[in-house]
Amino acid sequence: MMASQQPERLRFDPTTPNAGRMSDYYVGGKDNFAADRETAQMALALAPELPALTREGRRFHGRVLRFLVEAGVRQFVDIGCGLPNEDSVHRLLGDLAPGARVVHVDHDPMMVVHTQAVLKQDGPAVAVEADVRDPERLLRHPGLTATIDLDAPVAVLLFSALTRLSDDVEATQITTVLQKAMAPGSHLALSHAVSDLCPETTAKLSELYRERGSIAGPHRGNLRTMAEVEPFFEGLRLVEPGLVYIPEWRPDGTAPHHPAPIWVVGGVGVKE
Ligand SMILES: C[S@@+](CC[C@H](N)C(=O)[O-])C[C@H]1O[C@@H](n2cnc3c(N)ncnc32)[C@H](O)[C@@H]1O
Repeated sequence: MMASQQPERLRFDPTTPNAGRMSDYYVGGKDNFAADRETAQMALALAPELPALTREGRRFHGRVLRFLVEAGVRQFVDIGCGLPNEDSVHRLLGDLAPGARVVHVDHDPMMVVHTQAVLKQDGPAVAVEADVRDPERLLRHPGLTATIDLDAPVAVLLFSALTRLSDDVEATQITTVLQKAMAPGSHLALSHAVSDLCPETTAKLSELYRERGSIAGPHRGNLRTMAEVEPFFEGLRLVEPGLVYIPEWRPDGTAPHHPAPIWVVGGVGVKE
């Protein structure tokens, strides 16, 4: 076999905790390693509400996707997709908009391989390995360009994908590049854990993630505040109700009441 025909070697480090695998652990999944479980248990000791946050996040994704489908969107780029589960974007869209084109993106090869494995059964969608910190390269990925027509409206989903990028300039550049590449009528949907409601807890969690090596870039000491997340939508029109705590984003009456605070915000912006 020629060198160019060799399958690309997958890189991932099971000794570094990954937020997607930790979320899997929070909701009873089995696709996680000792490093993920160990860090997740320490995080749960600080914030027992983490499983509720994960479940509430999935409900938010469902409501956002329903909104986007009703707005006519049929192309989706799900960046930082995490591990596949019953509420994965392509599965929810399979019910809402059969035939919608979906590209899942993650920088962790394990997420990509697992997603590719379930897509063989679920199709039509693809999963590609790319780093959101190089958005131009991500947008040029052959798996993306073969599936998504960036001259037509698309929804770019950044569900809990920017939270671990501690550099504000870098995070803003990412959303700016993505937004510029989107055709008018496109949407950017985003969720992000914030420090406003529980600053002490979230500062301790940030410190834990920093110690365990799961935060990229310089350490900022705490999560962003809601006011620091809003600029990611600059240049877009935020649809009602704006950037809010996720249970308040177009609630459909199905969410259970959580005694614990859900310190994750979310919103959807449209490019006009
Ligand atoms: C907390 S999980 C979120 C998973 C899913 N989007 C959700 O909301 O349930 C964050 C995901 O983002 C991925 N991720 C983190 N940094 C990334 C980067 N620089 N580029 C692409 N993906 C990244 C992680 O591997 C992980 O799967």
